[in-house]
Amino acid sequence: MEHQIKSFDEYLETYKKSVEDPEGFWGEIASSFQWKKKWDKVLDWNFSEPNINWFVGGKLNITENCLDRHLQTRGDKVAILWEPNDPKESSISITYKELHARVSKFANVLKSYGVEKGDRVCLYMPMVPELAIAVLATARIGAIHSVVFAGFSANSLADRINDSSCKILLTADGSYRGSKQIDLKAIADEALATCPSIEKSIVLKRTGNAVEMKDGRDVWWSDSLASAAADCLATEMDSEDELFILYTSGSTGKPKGVVHTCGGYMVYTAYSFSNVFQYQEEDIYWCTADIGWITGHSYIIYGPLLAGATTMMFEGVPTWPDAGRFWEICDKHKVNQFYTAPTAIRALMAKGLEFVSPYKLDSIKVLGSVGEPINEEAWQWYHKHIGKEKCPVVDTWWQTETGGIMISAIPNVTKLKPTYASLPLPGIQPCLVDKEGVKIMENDREGLLCVEFPWPSMIRTTYGDHQRCKNVYFSSFENMYFTGDGARRDENGFYRIIGRVDDVINVSGHRMGTAEVENAINQHSAVVESAVVGYPHDIKGQGIYAYIIASGDVTDLAAFEKEIKATVNKEIGPIAKPDKIQVVPGLPKTRSGKIMRRILRKIASKDVSNLGDVSTLLDPGVVEIIKKGAGLA
Ligand code: WTA
Repeated sequence: MEHQIKSFDEYLETYKKSVEDPEGFWGEIASSFQWKKKWDKVLDWNFSEPNINWFVGGKLNITENCLDRHLQTRGDKVAILWEPNDPKESSISITYKELHARVSKFANVLKSYGVEKGDRVCLYMPMVPELAIAVLATARIGAIHSVVFAGFSANSLADRINDSSCKILLTADGSYRGSKQIDLKAIADEALATCPSIEKSIVLKRTGNAVEMKDGRDVWWSDSLASAAADCLATEMDSEDELFILYTSGSTGKPKGVVHTCGGYMVYTAYSFSNVFQYQEEDIYWCTADIGWITGHSYIIYGPLLAGATTMMFEGVPTWPDAGRFWEICDKHKVNQFYTAPTAIRALMAKGLEFVSPYKLDSIKVLGSVGEPINEEAWQWYHKHIGKEKCPVVDTWWQTETGGIMISAIPNVTKLKPTYASLPLPGIQPCLVDKEGVKIMENDREGLLCVEFPWPSMIRTTYGDHQRCKNVYFSSFENMYFTGDGARRDENGFYRIIGRVDDVINVSGHRMGTAEVENAINQHSAVVESAVVGYPHDIKGQGIYAYIIASGDVTDLAAFEKEIKATVNKEIGPIAKPDKIQVVPGLPKTRSGKIMRRILRKIASKDVSNLGDVSTLLDPGVVEIIKKGAGLA
């Protein structure tokens, strides 16, 4: 594999070059891709607007690099290996040749419904091959995909469709999740009632349950393919044309549409994939994420396919039919690289070793972790019981906004240190700053994690609101991208990510804005005000704790909690449901009306030893009442 680092010396040398001569470094890596026209300049940037351009003037289509480029040498190699929810159903292998044909055909379907370069296509789908095919088909014709995780509610889906005025919705009749079935089409129908921009909805038959098809708007996926031509030339894209939008939560307001562009995203996801997983030509690689999140975009679809890898997609959940499903699949398909989230590791760890011991797990070479800090115990369990103490565990730190893995060990190249993401990949220049924005030069320190220099797959803008992108990421500290995370750098320069320093919580690896959850709770007619904080949760990493002021007396607490959860479910989706709800008479506020979340966070995590000075609060007495209500006084 090209540009794969093989030794620590080579890492040091490569890293040095990437910092001293970024344009030379990235220009050389980009040269191994297929460009319709070479770039005029590698990089043109400033962080003040921000305005970031990689491979300026270059023309390409990312799907030619994912598909066409491999046809000669890897045409019959399996590109996508799909494992269904139900182990009794057969898995499916799609070769590069077949994938090329299916993507081309579906691209023609999109064209036939009037989708043009720059149009937005929304995908709200189960984890089936057609989702990956449709993502690539959208990119093939230069349209912009916006994948919405199929666990979001109708309201959330509608918000996302409307924010970027999507023209087409791709969905399915339903989806399987373990023993459950979800009526995706019914949710989509509810959303589309408030989405005037949608002209067509193409519906895949997956569960076969009865659905309503709206005349003139809805068409079945299979019918739409019937008359589609097989060949589809890839549309020429500028390196900086938009490739996709992916919505993610921030500390304020509605989720924002993170925008990634074609050239840089291609170069960086391929480079990072190849190095972090040390992928070899015959390997079977499996990332358990959902394509609705950035991990699925970059490391199920684009990174692996750009590298000509065999990438596995799994439709189901880790605990069904039992908690051995992941390991059963690893043995069945002889998985070589396995990439999952700490929350899944902790959940499976809690089920006991009897679900692991029936399996050999002897094909695995590299284990990966992503999405949240991995605690020492989970790291050790993963390393010992899944990796049999012979597979490096790479703890990969990155974000929707970074597009690709930023800080991670490289297997058999750099050292592992449990709970540390460790060292930056070549081309990535992280740093720590203090609250005043002063750069911390020494090691063995904690600070706010920033990045000082652009990298190819970084966020370009937030859809329809460039100012928001500037405010959130580029205004806290001059000439730096601010991640929103706090980190520690040890004496050897290894980074450990501590967690978010803003009002974003990370629940089972899913990012949630506390304000977003509060807005949802406030939709309930009996809620006057609410405040949401995260607290440590054994399995989820963080749980959601909601303090609620109700308008009248809450006589039936259980019924009230149920209603609140249903409200959040409807507004956002099941992933945002509070784990704990406490009805309170008031909230700790400063005289200017700001909620003192620090106090609420401490109470939620049962740590009331040092609440600090509460005398400046508008109503200091409320703290004692809340403590009592939480059973802590
Ligand atoms: C957190 C997921 C610790 C972090 C790819 C970041 C992590 C947020 C790690 C981004 C890790 C991600 N160790 N924390 N290895 N990876 N995070 O956008 O707080 O869903 O800011 O991207 O997850 O979440 P997102």
